[in-house]
Amino acid sequence: MTRSERKIDHIRHALGHERASHNHFDDVEIVHQSLARLDFNQLSIETQVGELHLSSPLFVNAMTGGGGEETKEINRNLALAASKTGIGMAVGSQMSAIKNPEERSTYEVVREVNPEGVIFANVGSEATVPQAEEAVDMLKADGLQIHINTLQELIMPEGDRDFSHRLRRIEEIVSKLSIPVIVKEVGYGMSKETVKTLYSMGVRYIDVGGQGGTNFSKVENMRRDNPLSSFNNWGIPTPISILESSSVSPDLHIIASGGVRHGLDGVKGLILGGKAFGMAGGLLRVLVEEGKDALVNEICHIHEEIKIAMMLVNASSIHDLSHNPYILFGRTKEWSDQRLDP
Ligand code: FNR
Repeated sequence: MTRSERKIDHIRHALGHERASHNHFDDVEIVHQSLARLDFNQLSIETQVGELHLSSPLFVNAMTGGGGEETKEINRNLALAASKTGIGMAVGSQMSAIKNPEERSTYEVVREVNPEGVIFANVGSEATVPQAEEAVDMLKADGLQIHINTLQELIMPEGDRDFSHRLRRIEEIVSKLSIPVIVKEVGYGMSKETVKTLYSMGVRYIDVGGQGGTNFSKVENMRRDNPLSSFNNWGIPTPISILESSSVSPDLHIIASGGVRHGLDGVKGLILGGKAFGMAGGLLRVLVEEGKDALVNEICHIHEEIKIAMMLVNASSIHDLSHNPYILFGRTKEWSDQRLDP
């Protein structure tokens, strides 16, 4: 199977796999405040994530890499929707275009249709500094995501097995690039130990990419003759991973992602410590199943949900949400009790 066929396979399986009925965002409740004091039309949903200024906390998270007309068309439509609604967008892994320059147009289209937007480049943790720089140049990117996906690689029959150089590579990229470098998971979440190590290497931007949405164990297992199904539920759920990550240092800029289903999940992510939130599979599903106008409507709907939640807790800005009280239940509370200092 070629790399681009594998990417189409990923899209099909990522949209098709069965999602858990329980999502750990259901374990988080925001405390309602009856006495609204704000004007809905005056609310600002702009957010600052370290050096990055975003006009919305929502962004399209990394998907669809590889060559081929189908992935290029998906990228074009995601970028058009991001441009119309003013949200940021990350592209899928550019490693294939770095190795096969004829695939560059799959990514370049994202900048072509959205010349002013905030765009993140994306490479794997095996990338060298020149490869990371090439990925950024390809898009005139505002930030670079480095994805870590150990379990996905291990389940993939053709996946990488040697991770012994990765920490050094990440450290080199972070020290050499002048734009924000975001280290992200792809649906397994990050622990406080992981984040502490990344912090000590100079990383200041973390996308927790937690468990609860797109599940790459299931995606890769669907492509195996002998599935490693015992790993289908591996990982740290997103709300827990946000709490773990934000406990490490106030200097970290945390991005909430993984299993964000709607604006209210996104707001929970912001209340728990995120400064922005990413959605991948959920937005791709709307685009593929309902079309590009539906995707724009979905993003507007999420913005409305964010603002309604802000009204209900009297938060006039995204920053204000971080002070809001919340209650944890169930497995999220048990995890928090055992792992996080009171
Ligand atoms: C992804 N994701 C991803 N991440 C990454 O850093 N590089 C990549 O190339 C890809 N490719 C990719 C393809 C497809 C089809 C999907 C659905 C996802 C992972 C993505 O950015 C995100 O971390 C996870 O999907 C979890 O978020 P959701 O889908 O639960 O919102």
